[in-house]
Amino acid sequence: MSLQFSHKPVMLAEVLDALRPRPGGRYAEGTLGGAGHSEAILAASSPNGWLFGCDRDGAAIEAAQERLAKYAGRFELRQGNFSELADWVPPESCDGVLLDLGVSSPQLDVAERGFSFQQEGPLDMRMDRRQQTTAAELVNRASAEELARIFWEFGGEPQARRLARVIVRERACRPFETTSALADVIERVSPRRGKRAHPATKVFQALRIAVNDEIGSLRIGLAGALKILKPGGRLAVITFHSLEDRVVKDFGRARAQDYTFTGGVDVPELRQPRAPELKLVKRKAIKPGAAELSENPRSRSAQLRVMEKT
Ligand SMILES: C[S@@+](CC[C@H](N)C(=O)[O-])C[C@H]1O[C@@H](n2cnc3c(N)ncnc32)[C@H](O)[C@@H]1O
Repeated sequence: MSLQFSHKPVMLAEVLDALRPRPGGRYAEGTLGGAGHSEAILAASSPNGWLFGCDRDGAAIEAAQERLAKYAGRFELRQGNFSELADWVPPESCDGVLLDLGVSSPQLDVAERGFSFQQEGPLDMRMDRRQQTTAAELVNRASAEELARIFWEFGGEPQARRLARVIVRERACRPFETTSALADVIERVSPRRGKRAHPATKVFQALRIAVNDEIGSLRIGLAGALKILKPGGRLAVITFHSLEDRVVKDFGRARAQDYTFTGGVDVPELRQPRAPELKLVKRKAIKPGAAELSENPRSRSAQLRVMEKT
């Protein structure tokens, strides 16, 4: 596997336990990354299990091709957004689907990708580098209101408005081009004062989510994943922050209900019974065990939710 792409799969045993790969089974991963999870799924479904994998990142697809080469003929890979899964994979064809959200280690570690405030690099943050909008474009073009909304909604940044105002003022003199230029301004406006996390953590997370439309893709991707699952097939989703976990939790709860509401303006709301589309395999999210937490710090905020199509 290329040295450039090294990512330790999070909660691997728990994912295999959730998806229960078996010979002849068909699986999909919308977030291939370095293909650690996908390789394990192909191994566990030997000799003839099949996997469709996609990732927005071209570097991930290259790394995955290399890593999965020994399973040639048993997988198909594609660069693209998992929000399109249902366009590429036939309906009700999969026994298991995995979404392991967020960024991979190489995306964070390669300075030129511009995801990390700890490394000097262009203010980029695009998972798919064919996409036009970069973080720099957003930071240099969006209105103060829009930036404040992004920082608050996607980062929970308490100083959202103040930071947005300062950014808009500073960019009039010199547009932001690098990760460190932005991190420096944030640190100046909101000094660390003994806090453990760097003051730019929330703004960088928020910009990354906005640049890649991560929440919009997740909503569409979850619905698509459910479409391509066979009845009895399982969906496993690993999230890394509360915003995306809430989307997954709400999706699961809504589709597991045996009723829906009808009605609206001037019409009383009525509960209508209906067949649930899925069941929650566990009510609560699964968290990494102590051994993984000590060995892989990036697993700290991971949560796994597992659902089964009815
Ligand atoms: C945490 S990593 C996945 C790691 C992978 N499971 C492994 O074992 O190596 C997340 C990956 O998902 C990709 N990604 C995030 N959102 C995506 C989306 N909407 N569509 C496709 N890929 C996405 C990122 O580019 C990144 O490579």
